Amino acid sequence: MENVAELLNQDFCFSDDEREALYKTIFNRRDVRGQFKPDTIPDDVLSRILHAAHHAPSVGFMQPWNFIVIRSDETKQKVHNGFKEANAEAAEMFEAERQDTYRALKLEGIIESPINICITCDRARSGPNVIGRTHLKTMDLYSSVCAVQNLWLAARAEGLGVGWVSIIKQQALKEALNIPADIVPIAYLCVGYVSHFHKKPELETAGWRKRLPLEDLIYFDQWNEKRNAEEESLIRQVETDLDFAEQFIQYD
Ligand SMILES: Cc1cc2nc3c(=O)[nH]c(=O)nc-3n(C[C@H](O)[C@H](O)[C@H](O)COP(=O)(O)O)c2cc1C
Repeated sequence: MENVAELLNQDFCFSDDEREALYKTIFNRRDVRGQFKPDTIPDDVLSRILHAAHHAPSVGFMQPWNFIVIRSDETKQKVHNGFKEANAEAAEMFEAERQDTYRALKLEGIIESPINICITCDRARSGPNVIGRTHLKTMDLYSSVCAVQNLWLAARAEGLGVGWVSIIKQQALKEALNIPADIVPIAYLCVGYVSHFHKKPELETAGWRKRLPLEDLIYFDQWNEKRNAEEESLIRQVETDLDFAEQFIQYD
């Protein structure tokens, strides 16, 4: 049997540098809210990140997405109004002692970012029966989410920040963008060049939540079947690799 080094030496494999570039992109991707610069994003850059999104996996190859590229200040303002309304309601939903912290968080960059992109899902795109969606109807929604993640990572590789804003009154969003009733807005993204990228999620820095230990999230064979590092080599490895992400993170 071939060893791993031989397996990785085949034409379809990536070089060490290429693999590192992928991890660098993943671990340096951040949700950006506050550091947008007004600089124009060239069309060739925008085109590349949209191509990346369009090559996401999709259930039954349904490609249920559309990409609404928003440049108009007037439209952004309407969406921002939908954010303000939802955000005021959202603050009230948290425990009293967390509400001030919540209100201090910056949770969008709709106006400051030069481009906003709304990624949608057309649930009827390829007829009623879709390979892979026959028993799990939400798979088309997840497919559009895959497009979001592709765009987010490609944008990071292009030096662009992306912030996902989900705190928006959906009716206000649909009206602002003239989205038909049967089309589902999946993600509203703020996109632009940035002054810097944070090293950690802003919610972590703000003390809102910490990254959970990966080893606590891994089960074996059954839900909630955990093994400790003494009896399971994968857990040992995960713990050894605790700083795996850190080595790729460059900026603060
Ligand atoms: C589905 C989804 C919705 C999100 N909605 C918002 C949002 O409305 N406002 C916001 O500031 N961040 C939003 N985020 C970003 C998360 O807060 C962020 O991904 C998380 O704190 C981890 O930080 P990181 O993306 O920088 O690693 C959203 C992320 C996802 C995946």
